[in-house]
Amino acid sequence: MPWGRVILALMVMSLRKTETFPNNKFEDIEEDVQPPEFDLTLLEDETDSKNTSECDRCSPELCPVAVGCRAGVVLDSCGCCSECGNLEGQSCDLDSRNTFYGLCGSDLQCKIDISDLGRGEVPEPQCVCKFQEAVCGSDGRTYMNICQFKEAAFSTAGLSIKGNGPCQTVPLIKVPPHNIVNATGSSMSFLCEVFAYPMALIEWRKDGNDVILPGDDPHISVQSRGGPMKYELSSWLQIEDLAPGDAGTYRCVAHNALGSISASAVLGVLGPDEMAAYLSENMSEMFGYDHSRDYDEDYY
Ligand SMILES: *[C@@H]1O[C@H](CO)[C@@H](O)[C@H](O)[C@H]1NC(C)=O
Ligand SMILES: *[C@@H]1O[C@H](CO)[C@@H](O)[C@H](O)[C@H]1NC(C)=O
Ligand SMILES: *[C@@H]1O[C@H](CO)[C@@H](O)[C@H](O)[C@H]1NC(C)=O
Repeated sequence: MPWGRVILALMVMSLRKTETFPNNKFEDIEEDVQPPEFDLTLLEDETDSKNTSECDRCSPELCPVAVGCRAGVVLDSCGCCSECGNLEGQSCDLDSRNTFYGLCGSDLQCKIDISDLGRGEVPEPQCVCKFQEAVCGSDGRTYMNICQFKEAAFSTAGLSIKGNGPCQTVPLIKVPPHNIVNATGSSMSFLCEVFAYPMALIEWRKDGNDVILPGDDPHISVQSRGGPMKYELSSWLQIEDLAPGDAGTYRCVAHNALGSISASAVLGVLGPDEMAAYLSENMSEMFGYDHSRDYDEDYY
């Protein structure tokens, strides 16, 4: 809010008594009775009621200097002073008048995320990058769009764009499978989420066994699909009707043209009595388990 500037401007006006200001909201104040030391708190109350006439005069030399703007500068609600544009993901004003949340910075546009409606959330306009192509930075990091790159470049001297598209890399495991204990006869599934460019293939194996799962085992199945984010792949290994022989270490192996990486997790299969004991003993641990996934990394 440019109140500081408005107050400053009004102070200057009150000092230059000989000048006249058409459309000034204080024009009916008698110039000669106005005290030279104007009471600022009084002024603040007056300016609380928004009135476009505040913007009639623009004195750029009175504007505070906008510094540290990672998304460039935009004009304030009077179209006079520069201030920092909002970053990707920040709330913004849908109209271009910069009245409440502020305006989005360069390469960003203010948009309402319709998908919030489906999730029962109140949609709030947010700054979204106008361009959604990933770029590879000279630091070897993939930036999902030019806005994220520019934000990083602002605070990293010498950071440049090495190429369009993500950085080519050996696959990275974003979400590894987690250890699971379940009862005989129950079912379970491991998830493995991978980022890779070029695109990767995911395979599941059981340690000590060369077979790529599911092999010909009908109670094991594997499903893979793209996502949840661009350049990512998710794969599930599902085992139904668990038998004691299913216990062991399972490994998700992701490989592309540049190499491969793997992550493993242990499956424990317990009989009904063991399972009951395990649950009662490990209740707090089970429910305190952190299933949150980190989807909003900017780079990999
Ligand atoms: C703004 O100020 C002018 C004159 O100072 C006045 O005529 C007008 O009604 C005001 N508008 C609002 C919305 O307060
Ligand atoms: C354990 O088995 C039950 C019953 O099949 C299933 O609903 C549950 O998701 C399994 N737990 C895990 C961690 O897979
Ligand atoms: C509870 O969990 C720990 C490790 O997570 C395990 O060593 C222990 O055997 C479990 N308790 C039971 C009764 O299985």
